[in-house]
Amino acid sequence: MHIRDAGDPDWAGIWPFLRDIVAAGETYCWPADTAEEDARVWWMGKAGGRVFVAVDESGAVLGTAELHPNQPAAGAHVANAGFMVAPAATGRGVGRALAAHVLDQAARDGYRAMQFNAVVETNTGAIALWQSLGFRILATVPDAFDSPTRGPVGLHIMHRMLERASS
Ligand SMILES: CC(C)(COP(=O)(O)OP(=O)(O)OC[C@H]1O[C@@H](n2cnc3c(N)ncnc32)[C@H](O)[C@@H]1OP(=O)(O)O)[C@@H](O)C(=O)NCCC(=O)NCCS
Repeated sequence: MHIRDAGDPDWAGIWPFLRDIVAAGETYCWPADTAEEDARVWWMGKAGGRVFVAVDESGAVLGTAELHPNQPAAGAHVANAGFMVAPAATGRGVGRALAAHVLDQAARDGYRAMQFNAVVETNTGAIALWQSLGFRILATVPDAFDSPTRGPVGLHIMHRMLERASS
């Protein structure tokens, strides 16, 4: 597996699994039937953002991450990021590798902290991964996410500081 910056041609490899993750409705506050162009702009087109892909030896996209300022201007030194791993590739270290890459890149880009605004409290695999990487749950917004299978559940705000990159 190799992680690199994504370009426009990578969208064709991202969309099939991003669509399935969004359609499941359990981890992101997007409409389950989000149209492809809306999803492409949301994932690939954030102001000040950059996108990464994890690819296998054949070049197939296994997962993707996007990194962007959590707020504009006075809040732009805090990063936000999103992660999606193809369901067929989960549990093999792709998410952890993407997260390590994004944390390193965020520090190199000068961000001083990273914040996740809306981690669904039933997404226990993701929460365990973020906590193992040093994120803390700052607060949980009660019943803020309408899970299709569990009804209203909380959204965690998670945060960690970033070390200043040496190069
Ligand atoms: C969350 C996600 C990015 C993790 O990616 P992944 O490639 O499956 O994760 P990894 O294989 O790198 O696993 C990393 C860690 O995640 C945790 N984890 C992953 N799946 C888990 C599961 N089903 N149950 C419990 N923990 C799990 C473990 O702590 C694991 O630790 P380890 O490295 O010591 O084994 C991926 O499952 C995904 O895209 N999910 C749908 C979208 C999503 O939830 N994005 C994050 C929103 S906050």
